[in-house]
Amino acid sequence: MLPQRTGFPRDFTFGAATSAYQIEGTAGAGLSHWDTFAATPGNIADDSNGSRACDHINLWPQDLDLVRDAGFDAYRFSTSWARVMPDGMTIDPQGLDFYDRLVDGMVERGLKPFVTFYHWELPAALSAMGGWQNRDIAARFADFCTAVHDRIGDRTATAATLNEPWCIAWLSHFLGHHAPGLRDISAASRAMHHVLLAHGTAMQALRASGAKNLGIVLNFETSHPADNSPGATQAAETQDAIYNQWFIRALMGQGYPDAALQGMRPYLPQGWQADMDLIAQPLDWLGVNYYTRRLYTADPGLWPHAAEAPGTLPKTQMDWEIRPEGLTEFLTRLARDHTGSLPLYVTENGMALAAGPDVAQDPRRVQFIADHLRATKAAIDQGVDVRGFFYWSLLDNYEWGWGYGPRFGLVHVDYDTMTRTPKASWHAFRDMLRG
Ligand code: NOJ
Repeated sequence: MLPQRTGFPRDFTFGAATSAYQIEGTAGAGLSHWDTFAATPGNIADDSNGSRACDHINLWPQDLDLVRDAGFDAYRFSTSWARVMPDGMTIDPQGLDFYDRLVDGMVERGLKPFVTFYHWELPAALSAMGGWQNRDIAARFADFCTAVHDRIGDRTATAATLNEPWCIAWLSHFLGHHAPGLRDISAASRAMHHVLLAHGTAMQALRASGAKNLGIVLNFETSHPADNSPGATQAAETQDAIYNQWFIRALMGQGYPDAALQGMRPYLPQGWQADMDLIAQPLDWLGVNYYTRRLYTADPGLWPHAAEAPGTLPKTQMDWEIRPEGLTEFLTRLARDHTGSLPLYVTENGMALAAGPDVAQDPRRVQFIADHLRATKAAIDQGVDVRGFFYWSLLDNYEWGWGYGPRFGLVHVDYDTMTRTPKASWHAFRDMLRG
């Protein structure tokens, strides 16, 4: 059972979330850096890509019905840059037409559209020009955001510039797990700065176009030392600085954290300090994605001198530890150290769970959601202004480097027939929200 809706503030928003590449299928879109990345054997667990995904490009009406029928107030979705501007610069009106219809579909169903402009499908043409390593990305990104806003902004409830800049920059250019698959501190440091510069530039352009209710979605992951040694403590602190402080500090005008600058300063683009004011544009809200914690030990190798150690808590299908109290900790920590009274939304939280013989049964997920809703409520009870909770994800979908194995959905997807089957967790939300 999920907690009662009445325990949350009256105008609290409950929603489900997805992203374009993970569900749409790429028909009609331009080539993105993810398509190229996925084409290299070994980059994706099952060597798959998003070419068909959940065929949402055709099946979106029934997907929106599922959001509405569960009783959700809102739907968080993203717009593919490669669909809207196949070469990264020139608008394809048909790309915008799709999102126009999709947003109309939400409004018709009484759902509030929460758009995220960028959830990772960089047009390959821009990637060839250096992608997030190239400063020019900032102006291009602002053009893309305003093009989308000009078409659908009259009906969206909120808009986020970027989803998870840590993944866009660090996971992709330092850890090599996402496109473009680099393991290069210089490329990573440049991307860590340019992604924020792109956000700031887009915010200015969007405000000039009259956009309201603008935010950004960051991911947070608890970083704990695996033991009591000074090396492990330092490793966890450095990871915390890179992951949990770099973006929010810059956005709030607090500057980059020293523990991260230690390794990145030599590689940041020249004159980066002069961009910090542009990056710290006023926000209307902040999105918080939270899933897990990680344990670290010292690594004698290169900076950041941190190696992951196995965790001890129960795990999801991703092997991620389940630790709901981490969500309360981040929400209260953000308000205390960075965001003050800025409204927060939990824009993603969820678990992957393999399908059993009956694909509609997922009792562990119901428990997971109940625990994380209570963790959200605990932060509200401590005075944090949390305005909503979005479950990731509405559908089982393409989980990036993991391919189609992990199933995060409230709704099971049979990838052969594209049949959607609501799971017990979908019904639990419906019982909670429709009463
Ligand atoms: C974060 C990302 O925004 C989303 O694309 C991904 O599928 C989920 N986390 C689960 O890993």
